[in-house]
Amino acid sequence: MRRLLLGMLRVREVYHRYAGTVALRGVNFEAARGVVGLLGLNGAGKTTLLRLIATTLRLQRGQIEIAGHPVARVEMVRPLLGYLPQQFDFLKTATLAETLGFLSHLRGYRVTQKRIEAVLERVGLAERANARVGELSGGMMRRLGLAQALVHDPRLLIVDEPSAGLDPEGRVEMRRILAGLGEDRLVLMSTHIAEDVMATTRQLLVLHRGRLLYQGDLAPFIRRA
Ligand SMILES: Nc1ncnc2c1ncn2[C@@H]1O[C@H](COP(=O)(O)OP(=O)(O)O)[C@@H](O)[C@H]1O
Ligand SMILES: [Mg+2]
Repeated sequence: MRRLLLGMLRVREVYHRYAGTVALRGVNFEAARGVVGLLGLNGAGKTTLLRLIATTLRLQRGQIEIAGHPVARVEMVRPLLGYLPQQFDFLKTATLAETLGFLSHLRGYRVTQKRIEAVLERVGLAERANARVGELSGGMMRRLGLAQALVHDPRLLIVDEPSAGLDPEGRVEMRRILAGLGEDRLVLMSTHIAEDVMATTRQLLVLHRGRLLYQGDLAPFIRRA
């Protein structure tokens, strides 16, 4: 079945304030499919924006719609999205397969062993299904985090600094996996590393102090910069 991805994500006039800090100051964009890079310095508001979209932070002002549903309707929206938070960790003694089974169960999905294997395959961890979380390298841990966001095959995948702290090899591997995932869904990927965007995608959002400074194709942005 062909998936309808048109207008998958709509963000309109989104503001966000923490006690004492204004993190977002009127963010507007739309995205349909492929990998969209959200580039910005530390403190720009990337995590805040991604958490609002992922429904782990409550929208204060503005509108966010996923496939036409406002994010306030979490029961409609959550099954459509997967989220890899900036910090992802899990019980060190659990195996990777157990981790995916447990997290799926918590979210109310029934997941088969076959599905778990397929998802681990997708992130290059198929051989490690029975390894323990505590044995994983940083790069593998991020890929397990990606796997837990993918179990239910979401149409929107939100990943917060997926390659931060990885060695060059791990970073290249992560970019390759994300580019593949962007072929049949929308992937929103934040990073503070310009090279991550350049190597993965042509669709760019640049966030600076809570405002989008640029949105569009990568090439004109590079010429301008
Ligand atoms: N829980 C919080 N409480 C107060 N201020 C916060 C909180 N989370 C983030 N901030 C502030 O909001 C701004 C944006 O942060 P964040 O969204 O984490 O940016 P980024 O992910 O781009 O580094 C920063 O000034 C940060 O200090
Ligand atoms: Mg962040």
